[in-house]
Amino acid sequence: MKRIGLLTSGGDAPGMNAAIRAVVRTGLYFGMEVYGIRRGYTGLIDDDMVPMEMRSVSDIVQRGGTMLRTARCLELLTKEGQRKAVETLDRRGIEGLVVIGGDGSFRGARDLTEGWGVPTIGIPGTIDNDLEYTDYTLGFDTAVNTCLDLINKLRDTMTSHERISVVEVMGRRCGDIALYAGIASGAEIIVVPEIAFDIDDIVMRINRSRANGKHSNIIVVAEGVMSAEAFAKKLQEVTTYSVRPTTIGHVQRGGSPSMADRMLAAQFGNKAVRLLNEGVGNRVVGIHKNEIIDMDIIEAVSMKKKFNYELYETLQMISY
Ligand code: F6P
Repeated sequence: MKRIGLLTSGGDAPGMNAAIRAVVRTGLYFGMEVYGIRRGYTGLIDDDMVPMEMRSVSDIVQRGGTMLRTARCLELLTKEGQRKAVETLDRRGIEGLVVIGGDGSFRGARDLTEGWGVPTIGIPGTIDNDLEYTDYTLGFDTAVNTCLDLINKLRDTMTSHERISVVEVMGRRCGDIALYAGIASGAEIIVVPEIAFDIDDIVMRINRSRANGKHSNIIVVAEGVMSAEAFAKKLQEVTTYSVRPTTIGHVQRGGSPSMADRMLAAQFGNKAVRLLNEGVGNRVVGIHKNEIIDMDIIEAVSMKKKFNYELYETLQMISY
């Protein structure tokens, strides 16, 4: 392939910039022309793009957000939107497309591949870690580290006042951010969409921890269950300990990517362009058992995310 396009789509995630850099630099290495498409599929439909040079991606490996900017594009769900996107690619002579984004963005890429024959490669970029085919998505590690930093701070003040902190984290319908942030912060309880919760059981566990000498509790609630505000209200009705809600919010989406996310970005971006260079399209890249993998995009988007129940039990066995 001589000319490829690249876009970031959906919610941004730390590491997207590092992945853009890896795609551009690998493309240039192979002698390709690389076009950076702005504002995701919206920019593809509107033909808003710029040729990327070696220096276009300097000084971004450490930055959060995405230099190409991003959007959630509803127009691409329609046949008419897809037709416009394909017309832009044809007009520009772009032969392959790299899409960095989450589940919704991959469905867009799948539609372009399946319906219109556009060779696409998906790079999983979302803090949610909600794609089954890959062990980790780009941005998840940094987002969890941001949560840890804030939960550490909450623990300080909760212990001083002997309170219960209810912390809401993102993740859409997936409990992975709550699971990993809960285990790594030493939270006593996590509440995730994948497992129904019982408020009496939670109160029992809090009381048991206090009887065993704890002075505070941290409960991490995934946004897919309910808001911190609503959960704290529910809990306050059945406990005498003072409860305080905190919503971490969009802070989770920003910030300099961690080493783990920068390494994933470098490898995902590089692999995506290697595939296009070999004339292979219609794939997604990921990591499984510490190895960089690729898989058919249609198969990948049809897989249902599984929750790690063993990790959930681990939290219950070590944090009380
Ligand atoms: O998919 C990433 C994510 O941050 C989710 O965790 C969250 O539910 C959603 O995006 C928030 O979207 P927005 O930034 O459009 O409000």
